[in-house]
Amino acid sequence: MHTQNITDPIKIYLELFDKRFSESLKLEGFFVDNIIEYILEKKGKQIRPILTFLSANVAGGVSSQTIRCALILELLHTASLIHDDVIDQSEKRRGETTLNKIWGNNTAVLFGDYLYGKCLELIETESDFKLLPKFAKIGSDLPLGELLQKEVSDKSDFSEDNYYKVIGKKTASMMEVCAELGALSANATQEEVNSLRTFGFYMGLAFQIRDDILDLSPDFNTGKPFGNDIKEKKITLPLIYLLNDLPEIERQEILQFVNKEIKQDTEILSLIDRITKAGYIDKADEKVLSFCRLAEIQLNGFKDSESKTALIELLYSLASRKN
Ligand code: IPE
Ligand code: IPE
Ligand code: MG
Ligand code: MG
Repeated sequence: MHTQNITDPIKIYLELFDKRFSESLKLEGFFVDNIIEYILEKKGKQIRPILTFLSANVAGGVSSQTIRCALILELLHTASLIHDDVIDQSEKRRGETTLNKIWGNNTAVLFGDYLYGKCLELIETESDFKLLPKFAKIGSDLPLGELLQKEVSDKSDFSEDNYYKVIGKKTASMMEVCAELGALSANATQEEVNSLRTFGFYMGLAFQIRDDILDLSPDFNTGKPFGNDIKEKKITLPLIYLLNDLPEIERQEILQFVNKEIKQDTEILSLIDRITKAGYIDKADEKVLSFCRLAEIQLNGFKDSESKTALIELLYSLASRKN
């Protein structure tokens, strides 16, 4: 999934991470165990732990606290995906049928809550406790982002600014905290912490725009359904570009379509085709690159190292990712 250059400098930590991630989810002795096994079977791209470990390395070195942070962050991320699939009524994730589709919405919501609770069990030392406000920020920013997204969609109050507010909260704030906690757990200076935090935030914006592009790309196999954003009335950047360039009447027609409860796949495909042919996917990809550049310059103050090169490679690999 990731090139060796990205993971080589943190290979031993990722191995330890995998082992401890499985250990953090002990079997409970009833049907929940089937869900735990399902979760452990299909891991994701692990971008958040990779970002945490590489950030720690460029800021001084991975510590035992970095590993605990990475575990907590991946558990939070996993919980947020489970809840997100309920909200988006999504049927596929990581190439598999979603938890909500297999076990139902109630179980999915409760299991997501269980993971939010589990991750707090990993807090160990006094200095871990000092990091609690950072984890809490994720716990509030992610739902706030999803709520804001709902308001934008309910009121058709789309704009580029609102879009960045939504993705800033629902995605970039998590990556911001990953990089920040990597730095803090490596005893970095305040200046280094700030630079890495900003790096994570811009990387998160780039990552989500690319995710939204992939949702409009029927030809890529992302392990998630394509066209789900339009289906779920989400107006993402390529569509915002199109809407902004249209005369009022046509804009209203498209908004009416997007707000319909039931849409045919062929209608969704034809809107995607229109967005693509008019060049708005490419325009959104340019935006991805411009956020990558803003992220990259945050690393200027760090001395060259294998981990710094890996962090830059991770950043640009996400910009062109196809899954
Ligand atoms: C998916 O994140 C959620 C978004 C913020 C778009 P990832 O694409 O990192 O999910 P996994 O963990 O690799 O499945
Ligand atoms: C990101 O939004 C969701 C989270 C931050 C949990 P999406 O709804 O676009 O994510 P995917 O596409 O379902 O992974
Ligand atoms: Mg979703
Ligand atoms: Mg998506």
